[in-house]
Amino acid sequence: MKQMIIAIDGHSSTGKSTFAKAIAKAMDYTYLDSGALYRAVTLYALEEGLTDSQGLPDASLLTERLRDITVSFCRNPATGLSETYLNGKNVEERIRSLDVSRSVSPVSVIPRVREFVDNELRKWGEKKGVVIDGRDIGTAVFPQAELKIFMTAPAHVRARRRLDEMKAKGEEATFEEVLDNVLSRDHLDSTREVHPLTRASDAVLLDNGNMSVEEQMEWFKKIMEERWGIRLK
Ligand code: DC
Repeated sequence: MKQMIIAIDGHSSTGKSTFAKAIAKAMDYTYLDSGALYRAVTLYALEEGLTDSQGLPDASLLTERLRDITVSFCRNPATGLSETYLNGKNVEERIRSLDVSRSVSPVSVIPRVREFVDNELRKWGEKKGVVIDGRDIGTAVFPQAELKIFMTAPAHVRARRRLDEMKAKGEEATFEEVLDNVLSRDHLDSTREVHPLTRASDAVLLDNGNMSVEEQMEWFKKIMEERWGIRLK
């Protein structure tokens, strides 16, 4: 199999990680979740009291403490899925909670935090054979990626998806709260100064508001065959 970097960017809750994992499986590639790195740094800031009562981070304190943070990914043999570890502790569930979701955008605008995450991602990306999802993977982290996909879907569809995911995990939230979070993250992600969320000029657009994962995979397989003659099962 050709070893490439596949960059998947797009709005929050567009199913980037589900799609990226399915691609990684089909291609036998490593999947990297860049959002999980931002979320782990955010959790660290919340747990270490580096945020105010609104959950907003103290940028200079957090910047100083970045050297104390190690994020790693480890495959759970029971599920076969990769899980996130913060300083050796499994935080996969904790980083998806609403308090982390609320603080992650302000944390991700801190330039040194972005540098920290970018450096981690580039270490893994050197080997190629990776699918990485995020907001600026095709524009800033790996502008040389062989394939760039930009995902979007209407905000209410994304909020419903996120709410269903949270409910499945037993987390409490209303549709309005989740929609608010989706919209405010869209705004913060696309208006921040450092590496805002934008579609790379050479990214293929995928609006999956009305598409199942299977349909998205069919779309992906067509691209692989048309561009590289790779036929996936
Ligand atoms: O994909 P996600 O919802 O888990 O990402 C969490 C947050 O991290 C998101 O609100 C924006 C930020 N992020 C980013 O700024 N750049 C990335 N490459 C990935 C995520």
